[in-house]
Amino acid sequence: MRISLDEAAARLKNGEVVAIPTETVYGLAADATNDAALQQIFTIKQRPADHPLIVHIGDISQVIDWAAEFPELAVNLAKAFWPGALTLVLPAKDHVSRVVRGGESTIALRVPDHPVTQALLKASGLSVAAPSANLFTQLSPTSADHVEAGLGNAIPVLDGGACRVGIESTIVSVSEDEAGAHWQLLRPGMISEVEITRVAGQPQYASEIHVEDTLASIPVPKVPGQHALHYSPRTPLRLFKDKAALLSECKVLMQEKITCAALFVGAAEALQYTSSELPRMELPDLPAQVAEQLYGALHALDDLKVDCLLVEMPPNTPEWTAVRDRLSRAGHH
Ligand code: TXA
Ligand code: MG
Repeated sequence: MRISLDEAAARLKNGEVVAIPTETVYGLAADATNDAALQQIFTIKQRPADHPLIVHIGDISQVIDWAAEFPELAVNLAKAFWPGALTLVLPAKDHVSRVVRGGESTIALRVPDHPVTQALLKASGLSVAAPSANLFTQLSPTSADHVEAGLGNAIPVLDGGACRVGIESTIVSVSEDEAGAHWQLLRPGMISEVEITRVAGQPQYASEIHVEDTLASIPVPKVPGQHALHYSPRTPLRLFKDKAALLSECKVLMQEKITCAALFVGAAEALQYTSSELPRMELPDLPAQVAEQLYGALHALDDLKVDCLLVEMPPNTPEWTAVRDRLSRAGHH
């Protein structure tokens, strides 16, 4: 059900849940100070209560409403990347709802870079907690249609068009001790670790996010809720290091009458072996464009209701880290 900006603001003020656009993915939003409203997010998403939510604020001046500390290192990151696809995890003020922080002592904050989201925060006068607007562990939505397909038509959606970034924000935690402020990457995103390092210096701990070259294993992550079953289409998904490996497995599966669809990164038309029986999508060979189109492509392939999705992994180089992270999780069945 599509609603206007004014109606979305009114519903949020009334303690209701509304799906909203952001530049990364659509969020399922509620007033971040209203525990009953926040509970509905967990219920609708079927999300465990110990998975904290990100609070979306209008501008940097509102950080001190939520965070007990705002070290200079974090101020510098906020100034460099907000509004934008960076979430900062900071020590929370005592009054901050335990529901929104999932029992953690910290709070996750982000200033979204989307004109409709910004207008909504202004019109409502609220800060809104919003996880991605999908069922727990399923693919994130990057359009209003995705939200309705995943959560049903009864969910009120503020349509802000297709998401420009396309995958979830980079999450960085910042803490301070006698030795000074430290940061750690908790979730990779299109704002890269290199860009963060340029502003904040070297991280205290190496990122725990390594997408294994074997594609076999990913380590247990540090972010609550970032476990291996995230971002999955309903169709089982398998990852391949290149087109040739994908297609040779595809041949085997087709002989066994297992139906497949493929997602290639970089043009595949030159490959003669792409059988006409194989439904497929091709994404351009550019990280930002792949990120923007990734969930849309996976939603579309999922809708084909084949037995198995075969996906070509982009190369194991830094500019592909975030896309490889999401694909690894989608493929982890
Ligand atoms: O781009 C995004 O970040 C989108 C849009 C809607 O803003 N939101 C999003 O929310 O991806 P969600 O809930 O799907 O993912 C938020 C992640 C979760 O893995 C959660 O565990 C982590 O942020 N998180 C939230 N608060 C945290 C905290 N206090 N400490 C550590 N991790 C936290
Ligand atoms: Mg999510």
